[in-house]
Amino acid sequence: MKIEVIDKPIDNIKAECEIILVVNKELNHKWIKDKDKFKKLGFKSEEDETLFLPEVDRVYSACSSFEPDDIRVAVSNALKCIKKSSYKSAKMGLYTKKCPPINARALSEGIELSNYSFDKYKSKKDKIHLKTIKISTEDYNGNSYNLNSTKKAISEGIIIAEATNRAKDIVNTTPYDMTPTKLAEYAKNLAKKLKNVECFIGDEKFLKKEKMGAFLAVAKASVNKPRLIKLSYKPKDAKKRFVFVGKGLTYDSGGLSLKPSDYMVTMKSDKSGASAALHIIKAASELNLPFEVHAIIGAAENMIGGNAYKPDDVLVARNGKTIEVRNTDAEGRLVLADCLDFAQELKPDYLVDLATLTGACVVALGEYTTGIMGHSSELKHSISSAAKKSGELTGMLPFNKYLKKLLKSSIADISNIASSRYGGAITAGLFLDNFIKDEYKDKWLHLDIAGPAFVEKEWGYNQAGASGAGVRMCLYWLKDFAYKINNVHKEVK
Ligand code: BES
Ligand code: ZN
Ligand code: ZN
Repeated sequence: MKIEVIDKPIDNIKAECEIILVVNKELNHKWIKDKDKFKKLGFKSEEDETLFLPEVDRVYSACSSFEPDDIRVAVSNALKCIKKSSYKSAKMGLYTKKCPPINARALSEGIELSNYSFDKYKSKKDKIHLKTIKISTEDYNGNSYNLNSTKKAISEGIIIAEATNRAKDIVNTTPYDMTPTKLAEYAKNLAKKLKNVECFIGDEKFLKKEKMGAFLAVAKASVNKPRLIKLSYKPKDAKKRFVFVGKGLTYDSGGLSLKPSDYMVTMKSDKSGASAALHIIKAASELNLPFEVHAIIGAAENMIGGNAYKPDDVLVARNGKTIEVRNTDAEGRLVLADCLDFAQELKPDYLVDLATLTGACVVALGEYTTGIMGHSSELKHSISSAAKKSGELTGMLPFNKYLKKLLKSSIADISNIASSRYGGAITAGLFLDNFIKDEYKDKWLHLDIAGPAFVEKEWGYNQAGASGAGVRMCLYWLKDFAYKINNVHKEVK
C-alpha cells in the first residue's frame, strides 16, 4: 500500500473514498457528514462497528479512544469493509489531538498490518484494488500538523509494520520450504539488503566446535541439519549493545515424546522467536537506531528417527552443565540454553530471548498475550510499557525459589522438565535462568510468545496464522532507549 502524506485539509484532497473514524462516539465532529443516516441504519459506533455508505463513498469505523491501538484496530476495520470494492484510493485525517507522533505512526501501522495476506500457496490470489491511502496533515482539532513530523512518523510506522509482516511470512511458510538451512539463506540475503548488517552462519561442525551439546541433541534426528544464525547490526558510535536470541525450531514434532496429531499442526510456528529476532534487526537498521543489535538464532528441526535423542539421555550444554532429558518435546529450552550461553560472549547490555516455549504460557495468559519473565523488575516494566504502546499484549509471570527446585534431577545437574506441570511457563523460564551468568541476570528478559505468535483465527488487525509477535514490542522498546540516550529519536508517548 502506498501511504501519501498531503499537506492540505482533508476536504481539499481528492480520493475515491473517505475513511472516517468515529472516536469516543463523538458524532458532532466536523469530519462526520452523514450523522442523519446513522440512526436509520442502526450505526451506534459501538466497538468494532463499521458503516459503509457507497452512495457517498464514505466508510465510518468506531474507534473507542485516542489510544494508538484503538486507532490501529479502527482503521483496520474500515479497510476490511472496502476490501472487495474497486476503490483505488482513499483519504483520511490525522487522529492526533495535541501532537505526539505516536498516533500518526499507529495509523500507518494499522494500514500496513491489516493489509497483509499470505497467499504464497494459493493458486488464485485475491485482487485488491486499493493502492493508495492519502493522509491529510489536518488533525482532529482542525489544525495542520507539521508535515515533516507526520511523514517521519508515518514512515517509521511503515518500517515497523513491514518488519512484522515479513516476520509473519517466515512463520507462515511451510516446514518443507523453511528448513534451518533455508532460514540461514534468508538471513544472509536479508543482511545483503540492509545497511550496517553482517551475517554469520554456523553449521554442525561449528556447533560441535562450540560444544553446543544440548542444541545438537535436539537437531540430531532430522535430515535437515541445524544452523546457528548470527545477524548483527553495527552502526558507527553505537551507544549500547542489545542481543536478541530466537528459538528457531522450523518444526517441532515433539521428537520421541511425540506430540499428538492435533497438537502437531501449527508447529511450523515454532520458529516465531527466530523470525521476530531477524526482523527486529531489519527494522533496527532501517530506523538507523544508535545501538548495536544482534540476533542469535538456534535453527533446528525436532524430529523422530533411529538417531533421535531420547528421554533418559544426559546432555552436556555449552556452559558445561549436564541436563537430564525427561521429555524430548521440551526442546526449545535446550536449544536456547546453548544459544543464550553463546550470546553472553557478546557482552550485551541487554539480553532478550523470544520463544514459542510453552503451551503452559498459553494456558496462563490466553492466546493473545506474551509472557514476560526475568529478574529485573525495572526491565520487565520497561518492555511491558513499550509493548502497550506497540499494541502487543503482555503479562508478567513471576519467578520463585520453590518452582526453581522442581527442575532438580537425580542423575544430572538439572532436568529439562519440572516435576510438576503447574507453572510450566515459569519453570521453563527458570530452566533458561540456569544458563544466564550472574553478571547478566539483571540484563536478561525471557519472552514466551507461544500464545500470540500463531492464532488460527483473526483478531484485531491480525490475520489468522502468524502475527509477528515480539517484533513491534521490541522495536518500541529499542526506540524508548534511543530517546533516553540521546533525544534523537523522540519518545513515543
Ligand atoms: N513448541 C512447544 C510449545 C508450544 C505449544 C508453542 C503450543 C506454541 C503453541 C514446546 O516445544 C513444547 O512442546 N513444550 C512442551 C513442554 C513440556 C513438555 C514441558 C509443552 O508446552 O507442552
Ligand atoms: Zn516441543
Ligand atoms: Zn517447541
